[in-house]
Amino acid sequence: MGDDTLRDETGARRDGQGQRAETEAAPEIEALAASALLEQVHNAVIATDMNGVITSWNRFAEHLYGWAASDVIGRDILDVTVGAGSAAQAQEIMRSMAEQGSWEGEFEVLRKDGSRFVAHVIDAVVRDERGIPVGVVGVSYDVTPRIRAETERDALLQRLLEVRDEERTRLTALLGDEPVQVLTAAATRLTTARMRLEPGPNADAIADVEHMIEREIQHLRHALFDLEPHTLERHGLASAIEDVADRQAGSAGIVVTFASELTDAVDDVRALAVYRIAREAIGNVLRHASARSVSVELHARAGRLTLQVRDDGIGFDRDTPRAAGSTGIALMQLECARVGGTLTIETSPGAGTEVVARLPLG
Ligand SMILES: Nc1ncnc2c1ncn2[C@@H]1O[C@H](COP(=O)(O)OP(=O)(O)O)[C@@H](O)[C@H]1O
Ligand SMILES: [Mg+2]
Repeated sequence: MGDDTLRDETGARRDGQGQRAETEAAPEIEALAASALLEQVHNAVIATDMNGVITSWNRFAEHLYGWAASDVIGRDILDVTVGAGSAAQAQEIMRSMAEQGSWEGEFEVLRKDGSRFVAHVIDAVVRDERGIPVGVVGVSYDVTPRIRAETERDALLQRLLEVRDEERTRLTALLGDEPVQVLTAAATRLTTARMRLEPGPNADAIADVEHMIEREIQHLRHALFDLEPHTLERHGLASAIEDVADRQAGSAGIVVTFASELTDAVDDVRALAVYRIAREAIGNVLRHASARSVSVELHARAGRLTLQVRDDGIGFDRDTPRAAGSTGIALMQLECARVGGTLTIETSPGAGTEVVARLPLG
């Protein structure tokens, strides 16, 4: 397919409509169609005139859509690649093109054999030097492999969440409250024994052991809390999250502001999900943000729960691919989705980070 094909096709078609001058005034499209580069890219590059009649169809388009260029040049792009299924969306795209001059997004397209796939499409209106639209160039590729990879990743993350929950339940049952109770009883007995002694080296030695046991009780309590947050049941979601914020961020010298307003009741399943999201978001502030302060807000009212964790740290670029081992954000998203919610992250380098989870209650 070269220059001639394009000129002949559009010329032949446009002669009857008296628009030939317009077509010839589109060297941009002709140059594009003639470019050797176009035949090598791994994207379908398709040009049409302003009526949607195909004027150029590169080699990768032949591969992707199954049609040879000679089959489709001169035909309506909507008939060839869209079919009835996505016609409404195609109209929408046309409208956006007319208004804004371009469109980018994903939608389902048709192959010659009737099969369909989701394509990422960038369409742009081409104008001549007078600014008059003379055609449209669309670049598209198949996003099925990406969607498949995302689905597999989500399934794996889902499994990871389940395994983590199973492991937590197992460890909690194993550790239980018992060791804490035994240690507490031992400490009490030691105290009683020490009281009977005269002050001196023996009493001091026992006091040391008492302190060791008390420290160990604290450690165990924290470990248990991390496994299954008891304060969640005992003192409720707001206290549990405030506790995490104070313990994690507070101990790292980050100023914590906490505000909550729970007008609506939050059931256990949602409370645990929100608690875990808060813990991960606050943990990220601690590990990555170099923040001076973090604000945590929790609202449950009018049937909706909102958790917002905002820091004044270094922020990050969401488009930079994350390290392979980074699962925190993906797990927060999944955790939120499991209870019917959505998680948004507003951030950019230098501008801090805001994580907001929104979910319906009841
Ligand atoms: N509050 C934050 N401030 C700055 N960077 C962050 C913040 N939260 C996350 N990030 C960035 O996003 C990456 C991915 O986070 P996450 O998925 O939780 O994985 P991990 O914490 O294991 O690295 C982090 O490695 C970090 O670069
Ligand atoms: Mg993390």
